[in-house]
Amino acid sequence: MLIVWTKAPLNRFPHHMYRTIRTGTARKAIVIAAVSSNCKQLPKSLRELNTKAQGALDAAMKRPGFDASAGSIAVGSDRGLLIGLGDEHPTPASLRLAGASLVAALRHLDATGADIELQHTLAGPLKKTPALAAQALAEGMVLANWRQETWRGAAATGESAHGTLVLSSQDATTRGGLRRGVVLGDGSNEARRLGSTPPNIASPAWVASQARSMARKLGMQCSVLSAPKLRDMGMGGLTAVGMGSDHPPCLVHLKWKPKKATTKARLALVGKTITYDTGGYSLKISNGMKGMKYDMCGGAAVLGAMQTIATLKLPIEVHAVLPCAENMVSARAYRPDDIITLYNGVTVEVTNTDAEGRLVLGDALAWTCKHIKPTSVVDIATLTGGVVVALGEWCAGLWCGDRSLRSLVRDAGDASGEQVWWMPLWKEHKDFMRARHADIWNSGPKRDGHPIQGAAFLSYFVDEALPWAHIDIAGPATSDTKTDLCVAGPTGFGSRLLTEMAAGLAAKG
Ligand code: BES
Ligand code: MN
Ligand code: ZN
Repeated sequence: MLIVWTKAPLNRFPHHMYRTIRTGTARKAIVIAAVSSNCKQLPKSLRELNTKAQGALDAAMKRPGFDASAGSIAVGSDRGLLIGLGDEHPTPASLRLAGASLVAALRHLDATGADIELQHTLAGPLKKTPALAAQALAEGMVLANWRQETWRGAAATGESAHGTLVLSSQDATTRGGLRRGVVLGDGSNEARRLGSTPPNIASPAWVASQARSMARKLGMQCSVLSAPKLRDMGMGGLTAVGMGSDHPPCLVHLKWKPKKATTKARLALVGKTITYDTGGYSLKISNGMKGMKYDMCGGAAVLGAMQTIATLKLPIEVHAVLPCAENMVSARAYRPDDIITLYNGVTVEVTNTDAEGRLVLGDALAWTCKHIKPTSVVDIATLTGGVVVALGEWCAGLWCGDRSLRSLVRDAGDASGEQVWWMPLWKEHKDFMRARHADIWNSGPKRDGHPIQGAAFLSYFVDEALPWAHIDIAGPATSDTKTDLCVAGPTGFGSRLLTEMAAGLAAKG
C-alpha cells in the first residue's frame, strides 16, 4: 500500500480506526475518485468532480510519487483524493484492497464523510456494474477497519477506534452498492467478533444468547434446544461431545422468513460451533490447542450470514442450525471406544475424541433434514487440520456431489472473494468409514485424506437425494498474520460466501 500524503508519507495502518462506518448523507464529505496507471493526467470525465472538489483531484494527480498503482492513494486536500486502480482492469478483489488503503487514509485525514464517485472512470467488466465496484470498495473499507477492541484494558496503547465515517455518492446505483458492501462487511465483522470472543466467555449458552438477540433485532425466529432435550431426542453426538464440560451443549435454530419470497427454495446453513476444542481424552498437544477458541468459526460465519441476509431482507427462506458444545476433559467426558447413536439412528464407534466436529454436525444435519426439510443444505466447519495442509489459508475445501449447488457455491466464492476448491467424495471414501464395532467410526485407523474422511462421515447424516455441500474452513477462518484486508485473527470467512449463495438462490427464482 502506498499513500501519497499532503504532509508526511504514510505507509502503514494506523491502530485507531472508525467506530462505525455507514452509508447516508454526510455534512462534509471528501470526494473520492479512481484513476488507472495509464493516466498521465486527470481524465476528462473527472473534470466536473475536480471543480466540485476545488481542484483537489488535479492536485492529487500531480503528487510526486503517485503512480496510481493498485491500492495507492493520493490526497489532494481535505476536499478530494484519488485511489489508484493499477494497470489492469479493476476487479472486486482489487477494489477491496483499495478500500483497505482508503479507510486508513480517511482515518488519518479525520474525514467524517466520503463521497464515492468511482463510476466515472471504471473500465473493463465492472464498467457495466458500478454497484459491484462500490460494494467491493465498501467491503474492503469495513473489513480493514475492524479491530477487536473489547479487551483493551488499563494498559492499552494507541488510540482506540472513534468517530463515524459516512459513505455517500451522487449516483444512486453506487449508493446501493455501498450499502450492500457495508452490510456484507458488517456481517463478516460480526462473525469475527463472535469468533474472537475468548472461550471463558463464549460458552454454548453465550452463543445462544447472541443468536437470540440478533433474532430480536432483525425479525428472525430463534429457538434453542437444551442439553436434556438433546439427550432425550437421541442426539448422541452433540450430547457425548458436550458431556465433559461444565457448560452444557445446545442446538440453536434461527429462521429468516421473508414477507415475500421469490423462490420456493429453503436453504439450511449448519455451522460447527465448538466453543473450545481441547481434543478431549485424545488430547491436543499444547501447541495444537492454542487457538481452538476459533473452533466455532463455522457457527460464527453462519450467524454473520444470517445478520446480512436479514438486514438485506433477501427474498428467500433461510434456516441456521448451530450445534454448540465445548470439547473438554473430565470424569464425565466421552472417551475413545465409546459407541454412540446419532439422531438418525446411525451408530458411531468413537476412535478419536478430537474428531468431535463431525459428531455434533452429524446430529445437526440429521435434525435439519428431518425438521426443516430444506431444498438444499450447506454445512460449514473448521473440521480438519488436514485441509489446512492441503489448501492453506487461501481457500476452503468444498465437497458437493450436486452439480447445481456446486456452481452456486463456486459462483458465490467468486463474488465474495471467499474461494472454495472442490474435493472428491466417492463410495470408496464412504466405505472407508465403516467400523468394526459400530456402523461407522468417527476417524479411520490411518490419517490418509482425513479431510475427505470428515466429509465421508457427514454423508451418513444427510438424505441421499438432498443437495448438500460441506465446506471445511479450518484454513481461511483465521490468519496468523495481518493480511491486506484483515488484522491477524478470525477473518469471518464464510459469512459473505453464504450470503452470496442465498442471494444467488433467491435470484434464480
Ligand atoms: N478443530 C479441529 C480441526 C482444526 C485443526 C481446526 C487446526 C483449525 C486448525 C478438529 O476438531 C480436529 O481436531 N480434527 C482432527 C481430526 C482427526 C482427529 C481425524 C485433526 O484435524 O487433526
Ligand atoms: Mn477436534
Ligand atoms: Zn474441532
